[in-house]
Amino acid sequence: MAAEMALVKPISKFSSSSPKFSNPRYAKFTSSVKMSATSPPTTKPRKKAAKTAIKETLLTPRFYTTDFDEMETLFNTEINKNLNQSEFEALLQEFKTDYNQTHFVRNKEFKEAADKMQGPLREIFVEFLERSCTAEFSGFLLYKELGRRLKKTNPVVAEIFSLMSRDEARHAGFLNKGLSDFNLALDLGFLTKARKYTFFKPKFIFYATYLSEKIGYWRYITIYRHLKANPEYQCYPIFKYFENWCQDENRHGDFFSALLKAQPQFLNDWKAKLWSRFFCLSVYVTMYLNDCQRTAFYEGIGLNTKEFDMHVIIETNRTTARIFPAVLDVENPEFKRRLDRMVEINQNLIAAGESQDIPLVKNLKRIPLIAALGSELLAMYLMPPIESGSLDFAEFEPQVVY
Ligand SMILES: [Fe+2]
Ligand SMILES: [Fe+2]
Repeated sequence: MAAEMALVKPISKFSSSSPKFSNPRYAKFTSSVKMSATSPPTTKPRKKAAKTAIKETLLTPRFYTTDFDEMETLFNTEINKNLNQSEFEALLQEFKTDYNQTHFVRNKEFKEAADKMQGPLREIFVEFLERSCTAEFSGFLLYKELGRRLKKTNPVVAEIFSLMSRDEARHAGFLNKGLSDFNLALDLGFLTKARKYTFFKPKFIFYATYLSEKIGYWRYITIYRHLKANPEYQCYPIFKYFENWCQDENRHGDFFSALLKAQPQFLNDWKAKLWSRFFCLSVYVTMYLNDCQRTAFYEGIGLNTKEFDMHVIIETNRTTARIFPAVLDVENPEFKRRLDRMVEINQNLIAAGESQDIPLVKNLKRIPLIAALGSELLAMYLMPPIESGSLDFAEFEPQVVY
């Protein structure tokens, strides 16, 4: 998983048992990472407090849990005759090949580049690493648990989930190593226990995770291509790894495509169309609002934030239209106009929260702004959609997108 998906409010919550880190490959997450500054000793206030008090907002990357019993039923080959085991076998072989086994190897360029980065860019860069690491780690936790829970019912699908959790662990670990270049580290063991888990029914996990993987692919490949063409903005070597990295995300997305295909009830009725549009909207708006609060990062690597986001949204939407039964008309100029209006309202909302007013006044100021955000969202949701997908799936082939 690479992208953050957060705007959707939890339907209900329960705390999931913390996944076990029995595999030594993952053990490093619990043993070596700490929430505090690692070195050198400093008289500055320790970063620990800031990192421990994670400010939970609707736009914070979330951890997900689901109804694992329902998942088991969905992947029981006795019950579900749509499960194309030969397709899953083929996907499993691809995951076993482990194309990126030796890809994530660091060099001394990392630390040197981090030391050169100063001021606001350094700060926003650290935040980028933290948020990305949290999002990747969120994927690791969910896939690891699915791998464990589906082992008996469908060992092939279970093994693919475990191998995807391997990939996400690698991604999260690589980002966390990046944080060490800035003398920081996220305590992922602590995060596992301390963060709230958002509960999604399996069907919603499929929509949300498919989108998250594909949007992650488009984000990484777009940044990679941009920096390849404009190397003067290559301020930190992590971006050089994005080309192979994004292929992991693409493969993960293709696996969710195959999963959705095996559950035609999630794709072939009017409810599926409404949910598909809802999840597209949630994921696109969350990314746009998040990124527009962090333009310093995108400008720091020579990108125009809004242009970058629109490119990612349009490409993700085109990819998604291959499998979802309906998608949003994101290429209609009205869509971008409304997104930009939401950015303005969101800025006013943040300003209201940061003002010196007493809480009652703050809340009174917030009400019309939240209502305005809601009405923009509704208007975007109700824009005429694009009918898409392919119910007979005759042309479906997992493929490399670029
Ligand atoms: Fe990932
Ligand atoms: Fe992924």
